[in-house]
This record gives sequence, structure tokens and C-alpha cells, in this order.
Amino acid sequence: MNIQEFRYEFNVLKDQGMDVNKVKKSQGFAVGIFFKNEDHVRKDEVIVDLLYPEDMGMKLPKLRGKRYRQLYMQLSRFLDDRPRGLVNILEIGTYDGGTAIGLMDLCHSRKCAPLYTGIDLFESMSKERQKEEIGKSKMAPSFNKVEKKLRDTNYKFRLFHGDSRQILPEIILHGLLPSQDFIFIDGGHSVETVKSDWSCVRSLMHKSTVVLFDDYYHHDENLGPRPLIDELRSDPAFKVELLDPIDTITKSGMRIGMAKLVQANS
Ligand SMILES: C[S@@+](CC[C@H](N)C(=O)[O-])C[C@H]1O[C@@H](n2cnc3c(N)ncnc32)[C@H](O)[C@@H]1O
Repeated sequence: MNIQEFRYEFNVLKDQGMDVNKVKKSQGFAVGIFFKNEDHVRKDEVIVDLLYPEDMGMKLPKLRGKRYRQLYMQLSRFLDDRPRGLVNILEIGTYDGGTAIGLMDLCHSRKCAPLYTGIDLFESMSKERQKEEIGKSKMAPSFNKVEKKLRDTNYKFRLFHGDSRQILPEIILHGLLPSQDFIFIDGGHSVETVKSDWSCVRSLMHKSTVVLFDDYYHHDENLGPRPLIDELRSDPAFKVELLDPIDTITKSGMRIGMAKLVQANS
């Protein structure tokens, strides 16, 4: 079943008065809906199942958590609604370039041409700064290593080496970034850095830009990106959705999800 068919069936369900949002929430982030009997669709005959991007033929890189599947689902939905062409993607926190390549592969497989922009501190990250930024993974590889990895793909990309708090305002000031279609904010997760990244990113949005924030901490309302995201949830200019699935880190008790933001009038 492809996404279009899935959407179609979803709409059939809605027309029949089924509360699809309830189903969606209870089942996770993506729902595949199959009917036992296609001629006589009745809501009590519906079987709901989790449908992952892989099931739809998407090749995903190694994921850093199950919540990362949302990146591919959301980009895929964005691509559903747009004609073929250039797709501008911005990722703050490129790390090893795995997500960059996964997202560009997805655009390519949908006959779109990705232009990826990535920003990271790469080897300039220190242990102290990593702690301040609530870093949970190993240090990123060097800029040169990631740049080579991306160059080997033949996709178009730009990679910036530096602190997003300083470098992103400069890039924007110098007009180096056009408006972006898909933005992933996944660099430093301190309250200050996320605020600074967001204040830059909002100036790069167009009417249908999709912004994903990683690290919405369901276990702590004062930590990391959550205070900002909670503020944006009550801002009438935006629609903000907390996404499933949520990763639980047993050792620390952290519960981490992603949040999606679009303009309210998109
Ligand atoms: C969680 S990792 C990103 C993972 C990556 N987005 C992926 O999908 O694989 C966070 C990255 O942000 C970078 N980072 C943290 N604080 C930063 C800052 N202030 N400016 C730029 N990069 C930063 C780190 O070096 C690290 O590579």
C-alpha cells in the first residue's frame, strides 16, 4: 500500500465518522488501515496496524531512536503535496551526516532534487559544551570526514562548521540561505541554543515549511527545547504537534519525542 492509498482509506474512515485521531494516537505515529472486506467497509471491521516508513519501501539509515522515523514520515508527507522540484532542507546538528543522506535519498527517490544545508560544531565541540547542550551521543566526527561522506553521494549540499548560535545569524544576515522547506532543529539542546536556533529558523519559513524539533522532554517541562515548544503551542501563529513514538531511556528515565511545527495558516 502506498501513501496515497493509505490517505484515501483514512479519509473513507473519517467520512464514516470514525475518530481517526484517537486511532492514530493510540497506535503511534503512523497507521496503516486495512479492511477485511473491501466491498463492505464497516468501521468495526477495520484492523489498525502500525505502518513504518520501511514498509512503504523507504530505505532508512541507522536510526538514533525510533522517534527518528518521524523525520522520514514527515518529509514524505511534505513531498506528497508538492510538485517535483528543488527541496531545501536545513539540519542544525548534522552529526555524522547519516540523517542528511537519508533525507536526501528520500527526496531523490521521489524525483525531487534536494539541497541540504547542515551546521555542526563537529570536532570543535568540547566535553563541557556537550554537557551544557544536553548531548547524549558520542562526539560528532570531524567536518572533513562528514564533508567527504556527503560529497561521495553527489547530492547538492552545504556544510557549515561552527556554533549555530553565532554562525546561523551570520549566514542569514549575509543572505546565504533561501527560505527552507524542511527544517530539523537537532543541534544543541540547551534552552538558550534552541531559542537562538528557533529565532533564526522562523525567518526562513515559508507558508508550508515543516519544522521538526528533536528532544521534546516528556519527563521534564523545564528542560531543553520543551519550554520553547510549550510556548509555541499557545502561539496562534503556529500549529504544533507532539509526535509519537516517544523513546524511553531506561537508565536515565528520559522520555524523548519530536515536535512538529507549521504555520497556522499553512
Ligand atoms: C543529537 S546530535 C544530532 C544528530 C543528527 N541530527 C542525526 O540525525 O543524526 C547533536 C549534534 O549537534 C551538535 N551541536 C551541539 N550544539 C551545537 C551548537 N551550539 N552549534 C552547532 N552544533 C551543535 C553536536 O556536535 C552534535 O553533532
